[in-house]
Amino acid sequence: MLLVLAIPVFFIATWASALNDPSSELPRFEHPLNNLTISVGREAIFTCIVENLGPYKVAWLRVDTQTILTIASHVITKNHRIAVTHSGHRAWFLHIRETRESDRGWYMCQVNTDPMSSITGFLEIVVPPDILDYPTSTDMEVREGSNVTLRCAATGTPKPTVTWRREAGGTITLSNWNEVASIEGPELEITGVTRLHMGPYLCIASNGVPPTVSKRIVLIVHFPPMVWVEQQLIGAYEGQKLVLECQSEAYPRPITYWTKPTNETVTNDSHYKVETISKGYKDYKITMTLTIKSVRAQDFGFFRCVSTNSLGETDNRIKLYRIDKPPTTRRPGTRRDSKKSWKLDHSHEKKAAGMRDEPMSKGSSDSGEEQIEFQSATASSTFHRHFLTNFEMNPSRVTRQRKFGGPNFCELRKAVKSFQAPACGGKEKFKDKEFLGNFSPEFQRPRRTVMRDYLLSF
Ligand SMILES: *[C@@H]1O[C@H](CO)[C@@H](O)[C@H](O)[C@H]1NC(C)=O
Ligand SMILES: *[C@@H]1O[C@H](CO)[C@@H](O)[C@H](O)[C@H]1NC(C)=O
Ligand SMILES: *[C@@H]1O[C@H](CO)[C@@H](O)[C@H](O)[C@H]1NC(C)=O
Ligand SMILES: *[C@@H]1O[C@H](CO)[C@@H](O)[C@H](O)[C@H]1NC(C)=O
Repeated sequence: MLLVLAIPVFFIATWASALNDPSSELPRFEHPLNNLTISVGREAIFTCIVENLGPYKVAWLRVDTQTILTIASHVITKNHRIAVTHSGHRAWFLHIRETRESDRGWYMCQVNTDPMSSITGFLEIVVPPDILDYPTSTDMEVREGSNVTLRCAATGTPKPTVTWRREAGGTITLSNWNEVASIEGPELEITGVTRLHMGPYLCIASNGVPPTVSKRIVLIVHFPPMVWVEQQLIGAYEGQKLVLECQSEAYPRPITYWTKPTNETVTNDSHYKVETISKGYKDYKITMTLTIKSVRAQDFGFFRCVSTNSLGETDNRIKLYRIDKPPTTRRPGTRRDSKKSWKLDHSHEKKAAGMRDEPMSKGSSDSGEEQIEFQSATASSTFHRHFLTNFEMNPSRVTRQRKFGGPNFCELRKAVKSFQAPACGGKEKFKDKEFLGNFSPEFQRPRRTVMRDYLLSF
């Protein structure tokens, strides 16, 4: 009987002594609870170190939901991803396996003293970035001059930043003409798309949680063909081998061909070889060459190179004229008239440029040959507009200068290269020896020609 009673008394005594003991004997936490940052799917482990636990018990709770997860070494919650382990009743570990975003929140390690004592820690679940297929742009095809927005929808925790770059490196030209290597933001807006914008772009999403992800979006820019001829006049003698060359820019890729002075299409045969060279797959620039293996009488006249795509057809001409066979002592070769001209689909161009396609014969006492050159120069207004935009010159003024041989050299000098030109005044006109001195002797011909060549050399 005594023995039977003794057991509970002993227990009560033990409890009482533990509970009534002064502070040193009470459980206490060794550290604050650690905060955790875990990638989704990984295991999170909180560590709670309790000194002097004695007869007390350690419980783990989820603060947000007031749920008891574990008590001592028992799992209370039905969540099978939760586990509890301990080391000598001192270190208690809460395991949360295969973490989900919903596990984010505050967790508590509690000891059942009276009043209870606890420490809390935060579980942050981070999610590596992902790029959503649906709201993100696919490859795009747009007309030159239109506005386009490339979109990249990225998810992740923390919220990822999206950066745009060109896959091949290089810069992106913004609508304010600024060139940047990269742009941040979920949308890449390009106003006034040009062919220079064509190519693959990467949107890169990163939030500090590896891995960073990217998506490739190809921007295709459609525009009608342009045809550029470097040498518009070629003197040749019968029997000479010649290569005629045109440059074309067009997208979609153009169909190109050459016509003879008789207007027949040139085909590969014993006299001619037709070739097209492009710098790379998907490049919009091509070089058309026509090799005349041996010039014959019927070759004198105009050869046309034609470039056609779904948006238009553009041609340019090269005039072949007869020269005497040079004496054998001289270096054989063609007489080179170095000039270039750009030609755009005519209909577009005249409208856009507001320039009249008249021959520039006024004030000229030159041969027909020279008139041809002027004419083609006028036709190349797109190019000149570009040139004028770049140099901020008044178009009508330059047109006039080109027509009449250009009295105001000073303006031109200022515009073309920022030579240290003094203020332009009337006296400056025709006094440009110093200016001409900067150029090869070829340019130091009578002023009229110099002016023309100068404008044509762009
Ligand atoms: C855990 O984070 C909270 C705020 O998010 C902070 O107050 C606390 O000091 C952190 N605990 C530790 C151990 O760093
Ligand atoms: C492109 O955007 C600019 C500026 O936002 C606007 O002025 C222009 O009309 C737009 N062009 C087209 C073709 O939508
Ligand atoms: C070739 O065509 C042009 C117009 O396209 C025409 O002016 C020229 O007379 C034609 N030449 C011949 C030889 O038919
Ligand atoms: C002509 O022949 C060359 C090879 O000699 C070839 O590269 C080219 O494609 C041919 N051109 C045409 C139009 O068939």
